[in-house]
Amino acid sequence: MIKSILVQYYSLNGDLKMKLSIILGTRPEIIKMSPLIRECEKRNLDYFVLHTGQHYSYEMDRAFFDDLELPKPAYNLDVGSGSHAEQTGKIMEGIEKVIIEEKPDVVLVQGDTNTVLAGTLAASKVHIKVGHVEAGLRSYDRSMPEEINRVVADHVSDYLFAPTELSKQNLLKEGIEESKIFVTGNTIVDAVLQNLEISNKNVDVLNDLNLKSKEYFLLTSHRAENVDNREQLGKLLKGISTIQKEYSLPVVFPIHPRTEKRIKEFGFSLEGIRPIKPVGFLEFLQLEANARLVFTDSGGVQEETCILGTPCVTLRDNTERPETLEVGSNVLAGVEPDRIIQSAINMMSEKRTWINPFGDGRAAEKIIDTLRTE
Ligand code: UD1
Ligand code: UDP
Repeated sequence: MIKSILVQYYSLNGDLKMKLSIILGTRPEIIKMSPLIRECEKRNLDYFVLHTGQHYSYEMDRAFFDDLELPKPAYNLDVGSGSHAEQTGKIMEGIEKVIIEEKPDVVLVQGDTNTVLAGTLAASKVHIKVGHVEAGLRSYDRSMPEEINRVVADHVSDYLFAPTELSKQNLLKEGIEESKIFVTGNTIVDAVLQNLEISNKNVDVLNDLNLKSKEYFLLTSHRAENVDNREQLGKLLKGISTIQKEYSLPVVFPIHPRTEKRIKEFGFSLEGIRPIKPVGFLEFLQLEANARLVFTDSGGVQEETCILGTPCVTLRDNTERPETLEVGSNVLAGVEPDRIIQSAINMMSEKRTWINPFGDGRAAEKIIDTLRTE
């Protein structure tokens, strides 16, 4: 009742008149959509969150709603894991039912997961407008499932919220109309700035894990092309173990469930590497900010290390975040042990003086403002 009065009030006073659906399904989407959810709450907008259930383990899903104090999603499709087609198909079916019933004016999706692909296709087919948050990223590597998802989402969406000028240029090169593209910055900057102080006040993960600032390495790896391939994963772990021995510093490894499963299946031992359960965002921000160096194949981690001033070695041969390479916060190392070691040595001697290229922390505000004026 109160909410509907407020929605009317804001409508009369020129704020967003439309109904929004925020679709999310995985850990990074929850984190990067959280500033938009907060913005909707702050402005009392008419919106609802639809969770696809692509991620479902407590530490990949609920932990983030609890940590970031986000409202419970209005819908959870509980699709769980499966092959690409199975997962995408189930998500499409579930989303279609909800949006036909709820009739949002705009559906917002974020990033490059199967949830994004399914959300974009389902909404556009029933003539509901789609806003793609984090549009225009390209690795130019079509063997990555994420690249296919990004390309399709960008070409089908009505509003393309590009984080940087470079991502806007990628879209223009593919013939996407300029009038659909809005450079807003990446909502990850909003999320980092909104949560870093809370993290410093409320958690002390270094103490909990018995670590000292700048005296440990942080590792994450979950990219399918790395961890589903025995040889690739073996090389990656060997490179990291060698670094650990060389520097006698702990390597903390919050381990993604996909990777945990593969390590068990391949019978690998984690020599010198310290695996822990995936941690909450507040803990992870502290681990990143205080690490001597971060090794990762994650997209979001390449951005966050750049924002937080921590050097990053990316365990891939390409990246859809070339801005981090340009400013010098990140380097591509692939998975060959020698290259990982040399990249780590180089990055540790670099000055940490780069400027964050991903925006000023007001991306969510700009996205909602854009929808308001459309
Ligand atoms: C997905 C995204 C990837 C994103 C990542 C974020 C696609 C194609 N991939 O990859 O782009 O970077 O999320 O973390 O959309 N599992 C659990 N619990 C969970 C989730 C997954 O145990 O909550 C395990 C299952 O064994 C599952 C496997 O992890 O089969 C992979 O999960 P899936 O969602 O298919 O892909 P991710 O590797 O998480
Ligand atoms: N993250 C986290 N806890 C962890 C590992 C990662 O909170 O143990 C966060 C991290 O801060 C980043 C996001 O998860 O915001 C990145 O997710 P992931 O690497 O799974 O996906 P990607 O960004 O590659 O799509």
